[in-house]
Amino acid sequence: MIAVPRDLDDYLTANEERIRRELFELLAIPSVSARSEHDADTRRAAEWMADSLRAAGLVATVHETKGHPVVVGEYRGAPAGSPTVLVYGHYDVQPAEPLDLWTSPPFVPTVRDGRIYARGSVDDKGQLFLHVKALEAHLAVRGRLPVNVLVLAEGEEEVGSEHLGPFIEAHRDSLRCDAVVISDSAMFAPGLPSVLSSLRGLAYFQIDVQGPAQDLHSGSYGGGVVNPAMALARILATMHDAEGRVAIPGFYDSVREWPAHVREQMRTLPFEEETFRAETGAPMLGGERGYSVLERLWTRPTCEVNGLLSGYTGEGAKTVLPAKAMAKVSCRLVPDQDPAEIERLLRAHVERVAPAGVRATVTALHGGRPWRAELEGPLFDAARRALAAAFGREPVITGEGGSIPVVGDFERVLGAPVLLMGFGLPGENAHAPDEWMSVENFEKGMRAVAVLLEELGLRG
Ligand code: BES
Ligand code: MN
Ligand code: MN
Repeated sequence: MIAVPRDLDDYLTANEERIRRELFELLAIPSVSARSEHDADTRRAAEWMADSLRAAGLVATVHETKGHPVVVGEYRGAPAGSPTVLVYGHYDVQPAEPLDLWTSPPFVPTVRDGRIYARGSVDDKGQLFLHVKALEAHLAVRGRLPVNVLVLAEGEEEVGSEHLGPFIEAHRDSLRCDAVVISDSAMFAPGLPSVLSSLRGLAYFQIDVQGPAQDLHSGSYGGGVVNPAMALARILATMHDAEGRVAIPGFYDSVREWPAHVREQMRTLPFEEETFRAETGAPMLGGERGYSVLERLWTRPTCEVNGLLSGYTGEGAKTVLPAKAMAKVSCRLVPDQDPAEIERLLRAHVERVAPAGVRATVTALHGGRPWRAELEGPLFDAARRALAAAFGREPVITGEGGSIPVVGDFERVLGAPVLLMGFGLPGENAHAPDEWMSVENFEKGMRAVAVLLEELGLRG
């Protein structure tokens, strides 16, 4: 097993306090991409990222898009023939609500029990920033980087990366690279570095059901007019069968079987269903019959309600027949399901099952393709060595139920393999109150990335 080079390790140790201070500056910016009232903050985070890349020694540009800016940092000073590594991350964050459930305010970063609490600490500012600091360490200590580097930081990941795909297409020549490295996921367990083998894709919809032109007295009209809330409930109830399978015709047609050796490997991971259940607080686990929990999460597609709205939901009772009902519904996809095809199937299904007497409309909100890694070649060998050097043990291969919409585009448009090595941890509360990142993983993450860069450089 190789060690973290002394000079880089010393630099990161000597600068620990300043690096932490800078990270806290970034975490204090409420760059909530979903909220237009935070547009100025989101832009400020982009500018902050660009400045931080410049301070590390890269050339940085803030590119305008129709949405939030894309920040690109660039270093082209590696020895001739060196590979180019593209680091991707996102500087936008999820909304912090409900605020009253945070122990310390979401945009006042606070360390407690070895954890950095703040919205975006682990998803993804902390993980993006540790890459910048690993680059800084190389440049500060050795005056150069062992590889050419592109850093691509986007501000729309949490809202579906709508403008990033087109941005990558438009800049495919200047973004050309030999490998893509992303830290925007979690390790399987504390002390267990992990390389992701898959991400699920996403197809996100809104279903609106319109009944009468306005809310009606439920006594004067109830029983004589179709209730849109009931109609929506009926539509949603057709989406699964009794085995927990998605019952939208054609839904599984393009699901590719998981390689046996990957499923085998999955079974060797230290996983306790009861611990997982307890973590969720749910009375029992559910899902598709015939699959283990990890298989359900990583290898099987889903169709879920994310939100429901209709009628009177305030205090007490109100006898009203609502005019409309709405559901947010999203499907997590696995290879080779295609978000556009799933949209077609879901539309056709809703049209078929919608009760007479209401108008049901489906609006597609966003989508992203599923992804599965090859996990072979020099990039993954280097990752294994780098993670072992920083964490003292070889990484495990894991899957993931979440989505990073742009990953498929990187592979397709840039033709480069993608390495996902994340430094989050189970229970990190991403997207929830009290999001945190482990201080230890932040420190080891910087070192792992520093070694990875070296391992990807030319030998000798
Ligand atoms: N970092 C996550 C993706 C992720 C989730 C990785 C869980 C590992 C574990 C990313 O920021 C995210 O939240 N993605 C969204 C996608 C979206 C909003 C289009 C997701 O998965 O819901
Ligand atoms: Mn993320
Ligand atoms: Mn996220």
